[in-house]
Amino acid sequence: MELKERIVKLEEEVRSLSEVPASGLESFRIAYAGKKGHLKQLYEELKTVPNEMKREVGQSINKLRVLVDEKLASWQEASPLNNKAPEQDATRPGSGQAQGTVHPITLVKEEIIDIFSRIGFTLSEGPEIEDDWHNFSALNFPPEHPARDMQDTFFVGKDQALRTHTSSVQVRVMEGSKPPIRTISPGRVFRNEAISARSHCMFHQIEGLYIDKGVSFADLKQTLLYFAKEFLGEKTDIRLRPSYFPFTEPSAEVDVYWGLDTETDHRITKGTGWLEIMGCGMVDPDVLRNCNIDPEIYSGFAFGMGIERIAMLRYQVPDIRMFFENDVRFLDQFRSF
Ligand code: PHE
Repeated sequence: MELKERIVKLEEEVRSLSEVPASGLESFRIAYAGKKGHLKQLYEELKTVPNEMKREVGQSINKLRVLVDEKLASWQEASPLNNKAPEQDATRPGSGQAQGTVHPITLVKEEIIDIFSRIGFTLSEGPEIEDDWHNFSALNFPPEHPARDMQDTFFVGKDQALRTHTSSVQVRVMEGSKPPIRTISPGRVFRNEAISARSHCMFHQIEGLYIDKGVSFADLKQTLLYFAKEFLGEKTDIRLRPSYFPFTEPSAEVDVYWGLDTETDHRITKGTGWLEIMGCGMVDPDVLRNCNIDPEIYSGFAFGMGIERIAMLRYQVPDIRMFFENDVRFLDQFRSF
């Protein structure tokens, strides 16, 4: 077949295709526009065409090429495999991005820090692995105290244990600075306890310490009343019951008035309306002496509370383990500060 006729025939063939041929778009492209396709072949043959006919034949091959390109372009645009189309669809709804939430322990911790920072308490932090001195000895724990037993404390070396309270941080602050000291120490603490709905081997505390000339028990009581009112509302009241801690004298447990309005109030306060939320006391003179602070000149108070316990009350969480399970369905309920 003569070259010119073949060109015409190919052109008719391509023109007659209204849809992608059954063999597929890519095989059509290879057959016509590929390295060994019809067009390439025709351009090769063009070289052998006599000079006076080159122009005419060349133009008809060009025409065929444009037609092939047009077909390819129109089929490509309509192809469902063409992923450019959705990207260009300005009317498509946005896909959005999943947002994390703030852990309830962090929410409560930040709120407590905020309340105490408004009356001049600074923030102090310390190591979770502590030596005997900072966790026990400096705080007046006698050698036979049960907390020094493996059953109550996780020991990780001869003289090292996971801290059982953040009072250890306060020892470090007292050793490293001069009064007046007004600081709170939030942090994770560890106790060798059976895990249940009410207790865990790991939890969070915030402990406070105030040391200056003439600090009295009245200052302690007023500070805690301020905290309770800020945290639970203006109507809240507190009461102190005598207690014992090796590092404070006198010592007390602090109850807040929670209320008896609902059935839940009755249940969680065991029908009394009062809830125990922390321990406190005047820093024992021996502890001050251990930290190179003269108890003849200075006095101070300390208090400590468990964050999980307070978060359980605030958000009505029935089981302490939920705080550590990282279940998104639980965490998703706590949104922001
Ligand atoms: N450290 C005590 C505890 O872990 C709490 C506390 C702190 C009590 C300060 C009194 C004073 O239980």
